[in-house]
Amino acid sequence: MKGIIMAAGQGTRLKPITDVINKHLLPIYDKPMIFYPLSVLMLCKIKEINIVVNPDQKNNFHKLLGDGSQYGIKITYSIQDQPNGIGEAFSLSEEFIGDDSCALILGDNIFYRDSMQSFLSKAIENLNGATIFAYHVSDPERFGVVSFNSEDKPVSIEEKPKKPLSSYAIPGLYFYDNSIKKIYKKVKPSSRGEIEITDINREYLNMNKLNVVKLGRGVTWLDVGLPDSIIEASSFIRTIEKRQGLKIANLEEIALSLGYI
Ligand code: G1P
Repeated sequence: MKGIIMAAGQGTRLKPITDVINKHLLPIYDKPMIFYPLSVLMLCKIKEINIVVNPDQKNNFHKLLGDGSQYGIKITYSIQDQPNGIGEAFSLSEEFIGDDSCALILGDNIFYRDSMQSFLSKAIENLNGATIFAYHVSDPERFGVVSFNSEDKPVSIEEKPKKPLSSYAIPGLYFYDNSIKKIYKKVKPSSRGEIEITDINREYLNMNKLNVVKLGRGVTWLDVGLPDSIIEASSFIRTIEKRQGLKIANLEEIALSLGYI
């Protein structure tokens, strides 16, 4: 399996902080934001990771993460010239994906739970079509939203609906088999001119190939788009790290535990 981190975008809701520094390089407590999604892909045992970045930011990301060899992985970079949406990550990574399956994670998404590694490996075994997640939130209208029937099967999926049909938001972590290379091409840009990840996932729903795993209340999922969410996420990480004396998203520790270094 290959991994893609979407770390482009303008970070408009964080201006002027993001005028010079890309959002995904901002600190979340004691490390840059991108360490958190990168740690998730590493815990999936993905060793080849392509990071999609803005044209003027490649040097900064490279300075921070290099070619990944310090963690025993291989990191490459693709440039998104225009804000054409999350879905463009697949066309920019077309060759990189090759004949593999792939995981896509958004560079501003933070996941925390006990036994993350075994949870992820269970979630992606027997991947057939797409596997995504659903997380109960108080403000679903800010996210992609999935609704379920009485048998817990997904029946609708919408991007930032004004009247959400459920309280289940779709976190920015998605797994696809190699069919993604055909499916993303079916999706046309939305009214805001972006290839929406939600439209790609709806294609899988229509083909009956969308597997949605509900994340329970013992899972923490945060996405960092606003000044408040930087403080909230930082404070969450700080609380756990201080109490336990252990680090979250410590890339060296993960690489060591996986035997990469
Ligand atoms: C994106 C996706 C949305 C998803 C969210 C998760 O929204 O479009 O479906 O629920 O990420 O963080 P954005 O935060 O880019 O507006």
